[in-house]
Amino acid sequence: AGLNHVAYKVEKDADLDELQKKIEAWGVKTMLLPEGTLPSTGRMLQFNLPSGHEMRLYAMKEYVGTEVGTNNPDPWPDNIKGAGAHWLDHCLLMCELNPETGVNKVAENTKFVTEVLDFFITEQVVVGPDGSIQAATWLARTTTPHDLAFVGGPRMGLHHIAFFLDSWHDILKSADVMAKTKTRIDVAPTRHGITRGETTYFFDPSGNRNETFAGLGYLAQRDRPVTTWDEAHMGSGIFYHTG
Ligand SMILES: [Fe+2]
Repeated sequence: AGLNHVAYKVEKDADLDELQKKIEAWGVKTMLLPEGTLPSTGRMLQFNLPSGHEMRLYAMKEYVGTEVGTNNPDPWPDNIKGAGAHWLDHCLLMCELNPETGVNKVAENTKFVTEVLDFFITEQVVVGPDGSIQAATWLARTTTPHDLAFVGGPRMGLHHIAFFLDSWHDILKSADVMAKTKTRIDVAPTRHGITRGETTYFFDPSGNRNETFAGLGYLAQRDRPVTTWDEAHMGSGIFYHTG
Protein backbone atom coordinates (compact mmCIF):
# COMPACT_ATOMS: atom_id res chain seq x y z
CA ALA A 1 0.00 0.00 0.00
CA GLY A 2 0.99 3.62 -0.32
CA LEU A 3 1.81 5.97 -3.11
CA ASN A 4 5.07 6.35 -5.03
CA HIS A 5 4.23 9.53 -6.85
CA VAL A 6 1.45 11.60 -8.40
CA ALA A 7 1.97 12.60 -12.02
CA TYR A 8 0.30 15.09 -14.34
CA LYS A 9 0.71 15.56 -18.05
CA VAL A 10 1.72 19.00 -19.29
CA GLU A 11 0.87 20.29 -22.75
CA LYS A 12 4.30 20.40 -24.38
CA ASP A 13 7.84 19.32 -23.69
CA ALA A 14 9.17 22.90 -23.30
CA ASP A 15 6.72 23.41 -20.41
CA LEU A 16 8.90 21.09 -18.35
CA ASP A 17 11.88 23.46 -18.65
CA GLU A 18 9.72 26.49 -17.78
CA LEU A 19 8.22 24.69 -14.80
CA GLN A 20 11.61 23.50 -13.62
CA LYS A 21 12.75 27.15 -13.41
CA LYS A 22 9.59 28.20 -11.56
CA ILE A 23 9.77 25.32 -9.10
CA GLU A 24 13.47 25.84 -8.40
CA ALA A 25 12.84 29.59 -7.95
CA TRP A 26 10.32 28.67 -5.24
CA GLY A 27 13.12 26.83 -3.46
CA VAL A 28 12.10 23.29 -4.32
CA LYS A 29 14.76 20.96 -5.76
CA THR A 30 13.90 19.19 -9.01
CA MET A 31 15.37 16.42 -11.12
CA LEU A 32 14.77 15.60 -14.77
CA LEU A 33 14.38 11.86 -15.28
CA PRO A 34 15.23 10.74 -18.82
CA GLU A 35 12.73 9.34 -21.30
CA GLY A 36 12.17 5.66 -20.68
CA THR A 37 12.52 5.88 -16.88
CA LEU A 38 8.92 4.75 -16.96
CA PRO A 39 7.77 2.64 -19.93
CA SER A 40 5.99 4.57 -22.71
CA THR A 41 6.68 7.88 -20.96
CA GLY A 42 8.81 10.86 -21.97
CA ARG A 43 11.20 12.70 -19.66
CA MET A 44 9.77 13.57 -16.29
CA LEU A 45 10.29 16.53 -13.99
CA GLN A 46 10.47 15.12 -10.47
CA PHE A 47 10.12 17.08 -7.22
CA ASN A 48 8.45 16.93 -3.82
CA LEU A 49 5.51 19.02 -2.74
CA PRO A 50 5.99 20.95 0.54
CA SER A 51 4.09 18.08 2.21
CA GLY A 52 6.75 15.61 1.02
CA HIS A 53 4.63 13.85 -1.60
CA GLU A 54 6.55 13.14 -4.79
CA MET A 55 5.12 14.70 -7.92
CA ARG A 56 6.18 14.19 -11.52
CA LEU A 57 5.28 16.12 -14.65
CA TYR A 58 5.67 14.76 -18.16
CA ALA A 59 4.68 15.82 -21.66
CA MET A 60 4.72 12.53 -23.53
CA LYS A 61 2.83 9.33 -22.81
CA GLU A 62 2.27 6.72 -25.48
CA TYR A 63 -1.29 7.13 -26.73
CA VAL A 64 -3.31 3.94 -26.60
CA GLY A 65 -6.79 5.39 -27.14
CA THR A 66 -10.08 3.94 -26.07
CA GLU A 67 -11.85 0.72 -26.92
CA VAL A 68 -14.47 2.51 -29.05
CA GLY A 69 -11.91 4.61 -30.91
CA THR A 70 -12.39 8.12 -32.26
CA ASN A 71 -14.19 7.46 -35.56
CA ASN A 72 -17.95 7.26 -35.14
CA PRO A 73 -17.55 5.81 -31.64
CA ASP A 74 -20.20 3.83 -29.83
CA PRO A 75 -21.04 5.27 -26.39
CA TRP A 76 -19.50 2.30 -24.60
CA PRO A 77 -17.62 -0.88 -25.50
CA ASP A 78 -19.16 -4.37 -25.19
CA ASN A 79 -16.50 -5.85 -22.93
CA ILE A 80 -16.93 -3.70 -19.79
CA LYS A 81 -15.93 -5.57 -16.64
CA GLY A 82 -16.45 -4.53 -13.06
CA ALA A 83 -17.21 -0.88 -12.36
CA GLY A 84 -16.26 0.25 -15.87
CA ALA A 85 -14.24 3.31 -14.85
CA HIS A 86 -13.92 6.00 -17.52
CA TRP A 87 -10.83 7.71 -16.22
CA LEU A 88 -8.62 8.33 -13.22
CA ASP A 89 -10.28 11.47 -11.87
CA HIS A 90 -8.37 12.86 -8.89
CA CYS A 91 -6.46 12.02 -5.76
CA LEU A 92 -6.69 13.28 -2.20
CA LEU A 93 -3.38 13.54 -0.38
CA MET A 94 -3.19 13.65 3.38
CA CYS A 95 -0.79 16.37 4.57
CA GLU A 96 0.60 17.01 8.02
CA LEU A 97 -1.50 19.52 9.96
CA ASN A 98 -0.62 20.36 13.54
CA PRO A 99 -1.96 23.71 14.76
CA GLU A 100 -0.05 23.35 18.05
CA THR A 101 3.31 23.35 16.31
CA GLY A 102 2.16 25.64 13.52
CA VAL A 103 2.66 23.02 10.81
CA ASN A 104 0.11 23.29 8.00
CA LYS A 105 1.22 21.43 4.90
CA VAL A 106 -2.28 21.77 3.40
CA ALA A 107 -1.83 25.54 3.22
CA GLU A 108 1.79 25.23 2.03
CA ASN A 109 0.88 22.77 -0.71
CA THR A 110 -2.08 24.88 -1.77
CA LYS A 111 0.08 27.97 -2.07
CA PHE A 112 2.70 26.04 -4.03
CA VAL A 113 0.36 24.40 -6.55
CA THR A 114 -1.64 27.59 -7.13
CA GLU A 115 1.34 29.95 -7.44
CA VAL A 116 3.79 27.65 -9.21
CA LEU A 117 1.72 25.00 -11.00
CA ASP A 118 -1.26 27.26 -11.80
CA PHE A 119 -3.97 25.17 -10.12
CA PHE A 120 -6.95 27.13 -8.75
CA ILE A 121 -8.95 26.47 -5.56
CA THR A 122 -12.55 25.38 -5.99
CA GLU A 123 -13.41 24.57 -2.36
CA GLN A 124 -11.83 24.67 1.09
CA VAL A 125 -12.50 23.66 4.68
CA VAL A 126 -11.45 26.20 7.30
CA VAL A 127 -11.27 25.46 11.03
CA GLY A 128 -9.99 26.99 14.23
CA PRO A 129 -10.43 30.48 15.65
CA ASP A 130 -12.03 32.73 13.00
CA GLY A 131 -11.63 29.93 10.47
CA SER A 132 -7.96 30.84 10.20
CA ILE A 133 -6.67 27.31 9.55
CA GLN A 134 -7.02 25.96 6.02
CA ALA A 135 -7.61 22.29 6.84
CA ALA A 136 -8.46 20.95 3.38
CA THR A 137 -8.49 22.26 -0.20
CA TRP A 138 -9.82 21.08 -3.56
CA LEU A 139 -7.99 22.29 -6.64
CA ALA A 140 -8.44 22.18 -10.40
CA ARG A 141 -6.45 22.80 -13.54
CA THR A 142 -9.27 21.64 -15.80
CA THR A 143 -13.01 22.30 -15.46
CA THR A 144 -13.83 19.50 -13.02
CA PRO A 145 -14.40 20.39 -9.35
CA HIS A 146 -11.05 18.85 -8.47
CA ASP A 147 -8.03 17.33 -10.13
CA LEU A 148 -6.15 17.25 -6.83
CA ALA A 149 -7.07 17.75 -3.17
CA PHE A 150 -5.27 18.06 0.15
CA VAL A 151 -6.60 17.23 3.59
CA GLY A 152 -4.94 17.74 6.95
CA GLY A 153 -3.93 14.77 9.06
CA PRO A 154 -1.33 13.64 11.57
CA ARG A 155 1.21 12.79 8.85
CA MET A 156 1.65 12.71 5.08
CA GLY A 157 -0.05 9.92 3.21
CA LEU A 158 -2.53 8.92 0.56
CA HIS A 159 -6.20 9.32 1.42
CA HIS A 160 -7.62 7.96 -1.84
CA ILE A 161 -7.52 7.91 -5.61
CA ALA A 162 -10.78 8.18 -7.55
CA PHE A 163 -12.13 6.70 -10.76
CA PHE A 164 -14.84 8.48 -12.71
CA LEU A 165 -18.18 6.88 -13.59
CA ASP A 166 -21.11 8.41 -15.49
CA SER A 167 -23.93 8.43 -12.98
CA TRP A 168 -25.33 7.79 -9.53
CA HIS A 169 -26.66 4.47 -10.78
CA ASP A 170 -23.16 3.48 -11.88
CA ILE A 171 -21.89 4.29 -8.37
CA LEU A 172 -24.56 2.01 -6.90
CA LYS A 173 -23.68 -0.71 -9.39
CA SER A 174 -19.97 -0.36 -8.64
CA ALA A 175 -20.77 -0.99 -4.96
CA ASP A 176 -22.80 -4.05 -6.06
CA VAL A 177 -19.70 -5.31 -7.87
CA MET A 178 -17.63 -4.69 -4.72
CA ALA A 179 -20.12 -6.62 -2.58
CA LYS A 180 -20.18 -9.49 -5.09
CA THR A 181 -16.41 -9.68 -5.14
CA LYS A 182 -16.09 -9.29 -1.34
CA THR A 183 -14.18 -6.05 -1.83
CA ARG A 184 -13.90 -4.13 1.43
CA ILE A 185 -16.26 -1.15 1.19
CA ASP A 186 -15.26 1.78 3.38
CA VAL A 187 -18.23 4.10 2.74
CA ALA A 188 -21.32 2.82 0.90
CA PRO A 189 -22.81 4.95 -1.91
CA THR A 190 -23.56 8.50 -0.79
CA ARG A 191 -22.99 12.13 -1.74
CA HIS A 192 -20.17 14.50 -0.93
CA GLY A 193 -21.33 18.04 -0.08
CA ILE A 194 -17.93 19.23 -1.26
CA THR A 195 -17.79 18.94 -5.09
CA ARG A 196 -21.40 17.58 -4.96
CA GLY A 197 -19.94 14.29 -6.16
CA GLU A 198 -21.53 10.88 -5.75
CA THR A 199 -19.18 8.42 -4.17
CA THR A 200 -18.24 5.03 -2.82
CA TYR A 201 -15.00 4.51 -0.90
CA PHE A 202 -13.41 1.08 -0.92
CA PHE A 203 -10.06 -0.59 -0.31
CA ASP A 204 -8.06 -2.30 -3.03
CA PRO A 205 -6.17 -5.50 -2.20
CA SER A 206 -2.99 -3.55 -1.35
CA GLY A 207 -4.89 -1.60 1.32
CA ASN A 208 -5.11 1.72 -0.51
CA ARG A 209 -8.44 3.51 -0.35
CA ASN A 210 -10.02 4.01 -3.77
CA GLU A 211 -13.21 5.81 -4.79
CA THR A 212 -15.74 5.49 -7.54
CA PHE A 213 -16.93 9.02 -8.23
CA ALA A 214 -19.63 10.54 -10.42
CA GLY A 215 -21.38 13.84 -10.83
CA LEU A 216 -19.48 16.85 -12.07
CA GLY A 217 -21.23 19.09 -9.55
CA TYR A 218 -20.39 22.26 -11.47
CA LEU A 219 -18.14 23.63 -14.16
CA ALA A 220 -15.01 24.72 -12.35
CA GLN A 221 -13.76 28.09 -13.54
CA ARG A 222 -11.03 30.41 -12.31
CA ASP A 223 -13.48 33.27 -11.69
CA ARG A 224 -15.97 31.12 -9.80
CA PRO A 225 -15.91 32.13 -6.11
CA VAL A 226 -14.26 29.58 -3.81
CA THR A 227 -16.79 27.50 -1.87
CA THR A 228 -15.91 27.50 1.84
CA TRP A 229 -17.02 24.98 4.48
CA ASP A 230 -16.62 25.94 8.12
CA GLU A 231 -15.87 23.65 11.03
CA ALA A 232 -19.55 23.33 12.02
CA HIS A 233 -20.54 22.18 8.52
CA MET A 234 -17.54 20.18 7.40
CA GLY A 235 -19.28 16.87 8.25
CA SER A 236 -21.97 17.67 5.66
CA GLY A 237 -19.24 18.75 3.31
CA ILE A 238 -17.57 15.37 3.53
CA PHE A 239 -20.69 13.14 3.55
CA TYR A 240 -23.79 15.23 2.95
CA HIS A 241 -26.45 12.77 4.20
CA THR A 242 -24.81 11.74 7.45
CA GLY A 243 -22.69 14.80 8.27
FE1 LIG B 1 -12.43 11.87 -4.00
